[in-house]
Amino acid sequence: MKEQPQRTFTSQEQQLLEEIMMHRRDVRGNHFLDTPIPEEAIDTIIKSALVAPSVGFSQPWEFVLIRDQKTKQAVKATFSEETERAALQFADQKQKEYIKLKLEGILEAPLNIAVFYKPKEGPVLGQTSMPNMGKYSVVCAIQNMWLMARSLNIGMGWVSILDPEKVKKVLRAPKENQLVGYLCFGYTDMFYNQPELELRKWDRKKLQKEVVIQERYI
Ligand SMILES: Cc1cc2nc3c(=O)[nH]c(=O)nc-3n(C[C@H](O)[C@H](O)[C@H](O)COP(=O)(O)O)c2cc1C
Repeated sequence: MKEQPQRTFTSQEQQLLEEIMMHRRDVRGNHFLDTPIPEEAIDTIIKSALVAPSVGFSQPWEFVLIRDQKTKQAVKATFSEETERAALQFADQKQKEYIKLKLEGILEAPLNIAVFYKPKEGPVLGQTSMPNMGKYSVVCAIQNMWLMARSLNIGMGWVSILDPEKVKKVLRAPKENQLVGYLCFGYTDMFYNQPELELRKWDRKKLQKEVVIQERYI
C-alpha cells in the first residue's frame, strides 16, 4: 500500500470539535423553523454518516429522507399512541412533568430521516460474538449526522417514542431492516446551552468521577 500524507490537527481545530460537541443539542418541535434545508446541507449530513466507523466495515445502514407531511403525520400518530402509554409508566409528579414535555418535532421539522440497520447475510467480521455491533455502528453514523448538522447550525432531534414496526409499515421498509433512529432536522430559533431536560430538572448531569472507574469495580 502506498503511504499517504497524514493530516494533523492544530489545537484550535481540536477546540472547534470540542465546541461543536458541547453545543450539540437535541432539538424539539417548539424550536424548529420551517425554513427549508438546502440540498447541499442535506448531502453534507448524509456524507458525514457514510464516513462513520462500522463493525467489519459492514456499513449496515440505510437512510429514508422524509419531507411529505402525510408520511410525517402517519409517524406522528404512532408517537402519540406511544407517548400516552409511556406517560403511564411514570408515577405521580414525574407523570405530570412528562406530559408537559415536548419530545419530538416530527411535523415541525422540514426534514425527517429514518435510519435503519440492515443486517448483512452471513457472518460479519467483528460481529461474531456481540451481535449488536451492527446496530451500534448505525448509532455512530447518527452521532456523526448530529454533529455535522450542528456545525451547519441545523438542529437535530432524535425521536424514539415510536412503534418501530408501525414506522416500517409507513415507510414500506424491507422486513429485515430494523429502525435505529427517527431523526428530525431543521433550522431553529435557538439552541440551548445545556440539555433541555437538565434545565427542566428532569435529571441532573452526572459528574465525571461518578462514571469513570479506575482499573476495576470495587
Ligand atoms: C438514543 C436516543 C434517543 C432519544 N430519544 C428521544 C426522544 O424520543 N425524545 C426526545 O425528546 N429526546 C430524545 N433524545 C434526546 C435526549 O433526551 C437528549 O440527548 C438528552 O436529554 C441530552 O440533551 P442534549 O442532547 O440536548 O445534550 C434521545 C437521545 C438519544 C441518544
